[in-house]
Amino acid sequence: MAQPPKERSKSPRRGKPKRTNIARTALGTEPEKRGLKKKPTSTADQTAKRELTEKVKTARGRKLSSTLWLQRQLNDPYVVRARAEGYRSRAAYKLIELQEKFGFLRPGGRIVDLGAAPGGWCQVAVRETGASGRVVGIDYLEMPPVEGTDLLQMDFLEPEAPARLKDLLDGEADVVMSDMAAPTTGHRPTDHLRIMALAETALDFAEEVLAPGGTFIAKVLQGGSEKSLLDRLKANFTKVAHAKPEASRADSAEMYVVATGFGRQRGSS
Ligand SMILES: C[S@@+](CC[C@H](N)C(=O)[O-])C[C@H]1O[C@@H](n2cnc3c(N)ncnc32)[C@H](O)[C@@H]1O
Repeated sequence: MAQPPKERSKSPRRGKPKRTNIARTALGTEPEKRGLKKKPTSTADQTAKRELTEKVKTARGRKLSSTLWLQRQLNDPYVVRARAEGYRSRAAYKLIELQEKFGFLRPGGRIVDLGAAPGGWCQVAVRETGASGRVVGIDYLEMPPVEGTDLLQMDFLEPEAPARLKDLLDGEADVVMSDMAAPTTGHRPTDHLRIMALAETALDFAEEVLAPGGTFIAKVLQGGSEKSLLDRLKANFTKVAHAKPEASRADSAEMYVVATGFGRQRGSS
């Protein structure tokens, strides 16, 4: 696998280190510590293996659910791999798998990433589209810049968000991809409604900006897309498929709808 893109190096700070308020960033840790690293070496592999069996030692004062979450993170092979390979999120591997299966990210491609933070999908998109490509993204969470992208920090559901994104994109898109997910409530019907609303809004936007032949990807919940979304996809794209990448946790109901060949009935709906 090719290496992820290198990010701008920062000059070392002089004097007292500046404190960054990281609580509100998508990474939840200082950007410097998340800088892209080299391809995994045997040392990185060894570290990864060691971390696979990591236990959470400092659990005092932490809720059981938080301890279990932390333990799962530390022992998740994709989290370990993302850290070793310099990806900002384990989610990057979901896009890598979708790309391997459907091949929609091409050199020079123009990509819109909806729900981009902390930036794993952006990194993959930049790598695959190369220097002649264009990647724009949006998230309401703050995230450190990803070299080769233009990012907007705002809620995609805000009425002015689509126009702001279009300004950034400055032309048609080859791919509109949405990994947007609202925080889960645990109430399945509510979570389902929320994720489908995000997917439908993403499709509204995709229909406005996609170039003929373009691709739309959205996170949906298991059971696939709802009939209304599916009907629209089938009417406007030549092929519609669902996929659950291996990197998507088995106990998560998420999966992705991938619609290719935009424009079948463009303008007639
Ligand atoms: C699963 S994460 C995306 C991970 C990302 N694909 C990556 O590889 O790093 C989902 C993101 O969707 C964002 N999101 C959810 N609803 C949103 C909205 N209405 N507007 C903008 N971003 C939203 C969340 O803030 C979150 O960062």
